[in-house]
Amino acid sequence: MTGALYMYLTKEEEAVLNGERGEAAQIAMSVLVKLGEAYEADRMIKIQHAHIDAASYATIYEAGLQFCEKMVSAGALFKVPATINPSAIDFEAWRELRVPSEVTEKQIRLARAYIKMGVIPTWTCAPYQNGANIKYGQNVAWGESNAVFFANSVIGSRTNRFGDLLDVCAAIIGKVPRFGLYLSENRRGTMLFELQDLPVKKFTRSDYGALGFLIGSTAGTEVPVVVGIPRSVTVDQLKFFGAAAATGGPCALCHIVGVTPEARTLKAATRGEKFKDKVTIDLREFKEVKEKLSTTGDREPDLVAIGCPHCSVEELREIASYLEGRRVKRGVELWIFTSPSAKSLAREMGLLNAIEGAGGMLIAGSCPLYLPLSGWGFKVLITDSAKMAYYAPGLHNVDVVFKDTLSCLKAATTS
Ligand code: F3S
Repeated sequence: MTGALYMYLTKEEEAVLNGERGEAAQIAMSVLVKLGEAYEADRMIKIQHAHIDAASYATIYEAGLQFCEKMVSAGALFKVPATINPSAIDFEAWRELRVPSEVTEKQIRLARAYIKMGVIPTWTCAPYQNGANIKYGQNVAWGESNAVFFANSVIGSRTNRFGDLLDVCAAIIGKVPRFGLYLSENRRGTMLFELQDLPVKKFTRSDYGALGFLIGSTAGTEVPVVVGIPRSVTVDQLKFFGAAAATGGPCALCHIVGVTPEARTLKAATRGEKFKDKVTIDLREFKEVKEKLSTTGDREPDLVAIGCPHCSVEELREIASYLEGRRVKRGVELWIFTSPSAKSLAREMGLLNAIEGAGGMLIAGSCPLYLPLSGWGFKVLITDSAKMAYYAPGLHNVDVVFKDTLSCLKAATTS
């Protein structure tokens, strides 16, 4: 007996479900079977990689920690390479960031549990820039909405948007139920977006964020197809675009014609079928969404936060070069978020010195939304990230100014 209403299980999968491969695998498989039942999956499929979203004690709390520790004591081991999202702390600088020691202690326990399961401790929301070697056509199980977007839309791997701890179960079993974006028919583009008079060739990363936010919030559960983004778009620009699209709505896949591997042409994006809807984005709408992402216009920021998603080495180089010979203003914090591996490269390249020399802080492996900002009493945050601009007011009770990276750096420093 499989216990699954709709899903076929092989003899091996049934054995796992019946506990013949140990308790941890049994728990993980039973969760995945329930997931498959809920989505009427027909069977399980192998995955090549997992990205764990349930990384921060500040989001999964005690129940999540207990689940992970329970899985470790039940013998859990990841069957596929698995990277992991930012944690609640910078493991080296939690004191400076005023993270309470109880949170740090719990986060360290969580990290130990993941290491025992075999995670690659990347602590980043940009795994695609930090060693997650996945490729076109592969099935993977990724959590973290911006990473899911990137895997599907830029690399052409296939993943659903996995919630916390489902990703852990998938990594333990090395399989997921086949539904949603694992099926070719659900990857077809259904809503066309055309850009009218937008100066895309001059777009900053933040402009791409604003455009992504607008498309994600308009598309809802449809699969957007965007025409008009130049092939010269950079990985960092796509990172900003995807993070914001996945913030504006449930967007996990967007066909960017000429960029997305499955959308070399418009016809390929729709698999030759008609669109359900067509939308034209003009300059007025684009400017409106940029304005709406700020909650205040002219108040001076006391926190400048850059690196959501985490900065790449290229972005750190650009930031460090601006900061050379400048100083962060008194009464202002400049926080730049990146992965531990990018920070280590930045150290070797002298970029860390430039950032810290100017009075900024390069925070590794954590996230501005997980840190206890209330303890700092910040009033106004300026950011180049549409994702952070959207979430920070609700989570941290601050006003937000949404601007491009250069304006953020100008706001942080004396000229
Ligand atoms: Fe990453 Fe946190 Fe932004 S996880 S995408 S820095 S909200």
